[in-house]
Amino acid sequence: MMKTLKEAYRDYFKIGAAISHWSYRSVADLIVSQFDSVTCENEMKLGSLRGEDFAYHFERADEMYRFAMDHGIEMRGHNLIWHQQSRADQLKEMSSEQLLRFVEDHMLIVGKRYSGLSCWDVVNEAVSDRPDEFMRDSVWKEKFGEDFVLRFFTLARNLLPGARLVYNDYNEFIPSKRKNILKLVSMLKAEGVIDAIGLQGHIRPKVCSIDDLKRTMDEYAALGLPLQVTELDIGLPDMDDPTPVEQVTTEEREKHTKFYRDYFALLRDYHEALESVTLWGVADDMSWLNYFRQRRNCSALLFGRDHQPNDAYGAIIDF
Ligand code: XIL
Repeated sequence: MMKTLKEAYRDYFKIGAAISHWSYRSVADLIVSQFDSVTCENEMKLGSLRGEDFAYHFERADEMYRFAMDHGIEMRGHNLIWHQQSRADQLKEMSSEQLLRFVEDHMLIVGKRYSGLSCWDVVNEAVSDRPDEFMRDSVWKEKFGEDFVLRFFTLARNLLPGARLVYNDYNEFIPSKRKNILKLVSMLKAEGVIDAIGLQGHIRPKVCSIDDLKRTMDEYAALGLPLQVTELDIGLPDMDDPTPVEQVTTEEREKHTKFYRDYFALLRDYHEALESVTLWGVADDMSWLNYFRQRRNCSALLFGRDHQPNDAYGAIIDF
């Protein structure tokens, strides 16, 4: 019998998966046996919890939260403030005073309803991908200026005193973006309003090496805050490549497996700083990379389309 993921990593960090309302029941046994953390892939985002009229629709998130709590699995809260999936066009219609009140209400209602979550991604992806710009454009920046992140973390700290607050972002392995993420997080840390940092970990071997990832871990760990890898996947083929995975060569598959092996070896070296590593999905048929930028089959996770452990799984538990 092969070790399960959570058994293999018991002494290192929690192993998590994003779960989705349309598919989690079909892999409930896998989730319970393999993972000790879950994240709602979409269901706790503002645009999912709130309808067009901003009325709450808690059914899906409630059901998934119950599932996690009933099985004693921790659940991360994803997310409170983001530029996507947040009904931004409607938020734009509000004055900044109205919007501030709206955010306060949202944080209080959602935060209290899901008070058993292990943490909240308070702000997701605020830093720009452009080296010459600090914060990306969004309704939040438009209404509150660049320091909206500090404002919302402070608000969350005051309104949800028991919650652990996380800043989560992607492309953290690109030096110019990382510099800006770390600048933002240092400021939040100095104000005492952040508890951990999320590295999304949508990793693209085409644009980053294991050395780049090591540098990333070093620089994040140097901040002295706990770290979480929150959305790990390594797409095969790359997200820009329209080739279906069925057509990639054996050599490319082996390189992909090796990348998973090497990356987890690196993560184990940082286990003292690292609380959890969450895969962005359970099995390959559920990965968002199957439809991000183009529709085609992709392999990105630790279980295949048949929901059996794949080569990457074998590679990361073998140490
Ligand atoms: C993605 C989901 O996986 C998709 O199902 C959805 O269509 C779009 O959002 N960064 C994040 C996640 O923080 O919330 C995103 O999830 C992936 C990128």
